[in-house]
Amino acid sequence: MPPASLRRCKMMQNTLSYYKSSDFTRDNESPDPEFYTRPRFVNHLDTTALNTVEELYLRLIPKDSRILDLMSGPDSHLRSEIQALSVCGLGMNNLELEANPILTERIIHDLNVEPILPFPDNHFDAVINTVSVDYMVKPLEVFSEVGRILRPKGLFIVVFSNRMFPPKAVSIWKSTKESARVDLVKNFFKLSGKFSIEGYTESKGKPRPEDDKYFHLGIPSDPVYAVWGSALK
Ligand SMILES: C[S@@+](CC[C@H](N)C(=O)[O-])C[C@H]1O[C@@H](n2cnc3c(N)ncnc32)[C@H](O)[C@@H]1O
Repeated sequence: MPPASLRRCKMMQNTLSYYKSSDFTRDNESPDPEFYTRPRFVNHLDTTALNTVEELYLRLIPKDSRILDLMSGPDSHLRSEIQALSVCGLGMNNLELEANPILTERIIHDLNVEPILPFPDNHFDAVINTVSVDYMVKPLEVFSEVGRILRPKGLFIVVFSNRMFPPKAVSIWKSTKESARVDLVKNFFKLSGKFSIEGYTESKGKPRPEDDKYFHLGIPSDPVYAVWGSALK
């Protein structure tokens, strides 16, 4: 394995040969640690969509896994039936991570400044990233690092929807149509060179729960998209 500086350099070249650097700029370029100082104890999806996410994780993640929740908040959407060996949450706000009951380890780490992940090679069986890929300014570097810290054939599951906080989402995410974002995420997997894509799913058009704050708008439940790949070694 080449040293971290070489890995970073190679991925940066890869990013620039496929994307423009402006693709990963944001309207709000304030440092993320400042922006995430205040904890946000909110549901990012309605409960029907969250149920879909939980069921997906339950279906895909083997029992007794060591799991990393990358860009973690107060809820990892992992049901206790998963019987994880450990769940590490990496995020930006300590109070959010403290409130997350399933985490056995909590790490504050700004991926947009330092995409090199603070874990050894082959350390996890599964890595999840829920409704957060749109905030990554160095997705190829991060995906490549996830490939490094996963054991051979370990799963990386990336879940997303159409809700976002636009000022912090990268411009390519906002300019890509919702229907094409699955391909964008598949490209991150492919261009990182560390994964074989194993599957994707989308769940759309389910009824919105009546107790949801947006029920009165007559819109369906939030869509759930997921792409997952297994680590190539
Ligand atoms: C929309 S929330 C999703 C939280 C959680 N994954 C969930 O499903 O509820 C986005 C999360 O990304 C994390 N995040 C944003 N920018 C980050 C960065 N630069 N490095 C690491 N985590 C970041 C924030 O801490 C926040 O919890």
